[in-house]
Amino acid sequence: MSWVTKTLNSTLGKKLLMALTGLFLILFLVVHLAGNLQLLLPDEGESFNIYAQTMANNPIIRVVSIGNFAFILIHVIWSILLTRANKKARPVNYAVSKAGTNSTWASRNMGILGTVILLFLIIHLRGFWYEFKFGEIPTAVYDGVTYKNVFLIIAEAYSNIAYVAVYVVAMAFLAFHLSHGFASAFQTLGLNHVKYSPLIQKVGIGFAIIVPALFALIPIVMYIQSL
Ligand code: HEM
Repeated sequence: MSWVTKTLNSTLGKKLLMALTGLFLILFLVVHLAGNLQLLLPDEGESFNIYAQTMANNPIIRVVSIGNFAFILIHVIWSILLTRANKKARPVNYAVSKAGTNSTWASRNMGILGTVILLFLIIHLRGFWYEFKFGEIPTAVYDGVTYKNVFLIIAEAYSNIAYVAVYVVAMAFLAFHLSHGFASAFQTLGLNHVKYSPLIQKVGIGFAIIVPALFALIPIVMYIQSL
């Protein structure tokens, strides 16, 4: 067995992979959010449609996108492997468990939170990503150039209160997942320090509140606009 396979099979290796893929996905969330916020510009989707198609046609973004899907898969599969390894190492629960005092609710429920986010992702990718890539969607012409009008698909979806509710609830789960995941990734990578850890914790909590809240704001505002 090579050292790479050995490392990836060890508990530490699995945790490292979770942390690295998690940090990449955090970075993806920031870029995705910045792009999506253009949906709220008062230009009937022009900026967003041009942005979405420019990104989709960019060869570098295409490679990053394949990496993105690969990292999501790795993050999910390794979380299952890690949970199984942890269960095997401690098949019987602690006799005395003061879970509430030495760990947060989110840290103890990362698997459940992650599963809900995965379900959300399946709905999300089928509704938007798949439609954008393979669906027959209307077009819009800006400055003589034809673009896929993905804004229309999103606006139609967010005119449905049930769809908006799914997004808002999923963003609450994402917030809890990030509230533990952000700082935990830094800790796994050994980037914890008496001086910086409290700051990383605070930035993590801030990130976990602001990013999902802004993601949730988009369907809420678009729903109100559709009334
Ligand atoms: C208001 C909220 C959101 C909107 C309007 C939105 C919209 C879109 C659209 C239009 C696409 C297809 C075009 C593209 O790739 O840019 C997409 C792709 C994607 N979205 Fe979202 N999204 C939202 C939130 C999220 C969240 C919270 C996550 C993750 C938890 C997420 C994960 C993804 C992924 C993984 C892809 C595929 C990206 C790729 O091709 O690499 N999205 N989204």
